Amino acid sequence: MAVEQTLILLKPDCVQRGLVGKVVARLEERGLQLSGLKMMHLNKAKCDEHYAHLTAKPFYPGLVSFMTSSPIVAMVVSGPEAVKVVRDMCGPTNARNAAPGTIRGDFSLSTQYNIIHASDSLETAVKEVARFFHKEELFAWERKMDALTAAPDEKK
Ligand code: PPS
Repeated sequence: MAVEQTLILLKPDCVQRGLVGKVVARLEERGLQLSGLKMMHLNKAKCDEHYAHLTAKPFYPGLVSFMTSSPIVAMVVSGPEAVKVVRDMCGPTNARNAAPGTIRGDFSLSTQYNIIHASDSLETAVKEVARFFHKEELFAWERKMDALTAAPDEKK
């Protein structure tokens, strides 16, 4: 099982509602390792790049307006199959369809104000990590508790 990195954006609603700590705690408690974390204010150009596949959608202007409305927190977390693990923890895009116990299912009722973005595939994650983080902002560090987060053959 490969150790992967995935990109997470804690959206303006998450920051405004004071939920950053709770979401980060869930990720850490699951066993995912923080590799990078920073607060930033998105601009339209960054949104156009990040949401390039959505620019023709009718909701896109509203999405840009929301994502640029106040700061976000960008994170990279690492772990075995981290891309799928984090997506599963988020629940589906429309939070009203998200099961209790997922981040969206516990904290949101919205498709737009849905707390968190997470990369949807390993290929996307590689691009999204590079889009939001410079190499020197990412940390490969040994975490002492990793003897207990997964068996050795799950962390190759
Ligand atoms: S889609 O509909 O399959 O293209 O959706 P997806 O690729 O999962 O991502 C959609 C992102 O746009 C945000 N957004 C909306 N999606 C659907 N409908 C409406 N009305 C809408 N408004 C905003 C949604 O939160 C997804 O954001 P990310 O950051 O990717 O989670």
